[in-house]
Amino acid sequence: MTQPSDIAYFTEAASVETVNDRVSDMADARLKIVMNSLVRHLHAFVKDVELTQDEWGVAVDFLTRTGQICDGNRQEFILLSDVLGVSMLVDAINNRRPSGATENTVLGPFHVDGVPEYEMGANITQQGGRETCRFEGQVTDLDGTPIKGARIDVWSDSEDGFYDVQQPDIQPRHNNRGVFTTGPDGRYWFDGIKPVSYPIPDDGPVGQMLGHLGRHPYRPAHMHFIVSADGHETVTTHTFVAGDDYLTSDAVFGVKKTLIADFEPVTNGETLWRSRYDFVLTRKEGGAGDAD
Ligand code: BEZ
Ligand code: FE
Repeated sequence: MTQPSDIAYFTEAASVETVNDRVSDMADARLKIVMNSLVRHLHAFVKDVELTQDEWGVAVDFLTRTGQICDGNRQEFILLSDVLGVSMLVDAINNRRPSGATENTVLGPFHVDGVPEYEMGANITQQGGRETCRFEGQVTDLDGTPIKGARIDVWSDSEDGFYDVQQPDIQPRHNNRGVFTTGPDGRYWFDGIKPVSYPIPDDGPVGQMLGHLGRHPYRPAHMHFIVSADGHETVTTHTFVAGDDYLTSDAVFGVKKTLIADFEPVTNGETLWRSRYDFVLTRKEGGAGDAD
């Protein structure tokens, strides 16, 4: 057992205790728990792999470049968290729901506030597209009660695999985005295009890391949804196109089985495809809900 008086001096064996012992009693209690654990795991990792000086230098250079490429539009640290599965794990821990409730997945970097609010049934594609698709379904409580006034915020990529914000000179602003509000039956429907798989931004250090690991940067085709309603927990999720080649190798680990949706070809319809997906929201604890 290390004696308190020895802890001030660094040793390989007691490195964790030496560092954590420096934290003041004045430090915020939660911060102390988080940092103590971080140091414990970080030191365990360094000891486990016996990190070389050169490898430590590569890591510092990688993190430096990750920071340097960040700006108002690009967040390479979140992308790093995404490809390491950390974003999905934090999301899972913070959005545990009962069976039957719609599951969350990553928000991603391409959500935009202030997009047009459309009448139910509108077309969110301003650019046209060959693979037209009707998205439809119902928003209900866990007990099946339709939720009136649910806000459905949707966005998807173009047929070329880019979001409007990635191609401001090519796509119209708010192409393939829209906000809808359900009526008393909780139903929603709108037209768009069938999404396609696309690579996450891979021209920076995170993309280089994926390359070194022999990992591809692709996400399976998906439509993004944020579904919110008074008195209910907000669901931030996607529906994934069943049969997509990348469902089991999503670069950001966003796929959950329950989020895979059928996209059926339609004959003699207004669109070439149709995808139905129902959203089931849970009530906020202590909330009254709004299900009339
Ligand atoms: C997206 O689905 O838009 C996305 C999510 C995580 C990283 C990059 C893109
Ligand atoms: Fe996406």
